[in-house]
Amino acid sequence: MFKTILILVLAAAVIGGAIGGWHLWRVARRNQAEMAPFQAQPVAYTGHLGKVLVIYYSWTGHTQDIAQRIAQRTGADVFRLQTQEPLSKAPWIYLTLKRQLSTQKYPARQHPLPDVSGYDVVFVGSPVWWYTAATPILQFLQEMDFKGKKVVPFSTQGSNYGTFFKDFSARAQNAQLLQGASFNNLPPKYDSAVDSKINAWLNALP
Ligand SMILES: Cc1cc2nc3c(=O)[nH]c(=O)nc-3n(C[C@H](O)[C@H](O)[C@H](O)COP(=O)(O)O)c2cc1C
Repeated sequence: MFKTILILVLAAAVIGGAIGGWHLWRVARRNQAEMAPFQAQPVAYTGHLGKVLVIYYSWTGHTQDIAQRIAQRTGADVFRLQTQEPLSKAPWIYLTLKRQLSTQKYPARQHPLPDVSGYDVVFVGSPVWWYTAATPILQFLQEMDFKGKKVVPFSTQGSNYGTFFKDFSARAQNAQLLQGASFNNLPPKYDSAVDSKINAWLNALP
């Protein structure tokens, strides 16, 4: 009996590991294909976006990294959204966040809403959580009125942004939405390709 259970557990671990490895391999291949043109032909920033504000939420730093790169190029002001309660580091936090999404009980923000009135373009960046925007960003979108501003969403994710952009546009009140961009988390060898991807995206904005 014990032997059978051991064999079943080992088989599950081997199958799980193989599926995980196959998934990572596929993601790496997709990332490579997406970034290859930017590696082959670097793109410089030539955009003129006027006065820019970058608003973002970031838990582990990836969205902050993209927000800062946008700000460096555009000379933007930056507004980091933070929650009143910091996220717990408990192993079940993923499930807690999933419950926030399904119950639509989003965490309260720490600061007053940013004043977007003096800006020509407002970028809003979020990590993807469970195939949609992070709950602090959903909370922000519930409260924010963009009053006809040009708004540009961007996401960072492991590999799949799901319905992020659809959900974002459904919730960005009175925004004039421009083309967003999504950024998979990539190893440092892609750093300059990511810069080029950001430049190409920003250059194409009206
Ligand atoms: C609760 C949770 C759910 C996530 N869900 C997804 C997902 O659906 N798809 C995906 O590709 N990555 C997912 N991720 C990975 C994050 O989107 C990714 O690491 C992101 O870049 C983190 O941004 P940050 O470092 O700015 O917090 C999830 C991460 C967390 C914490």
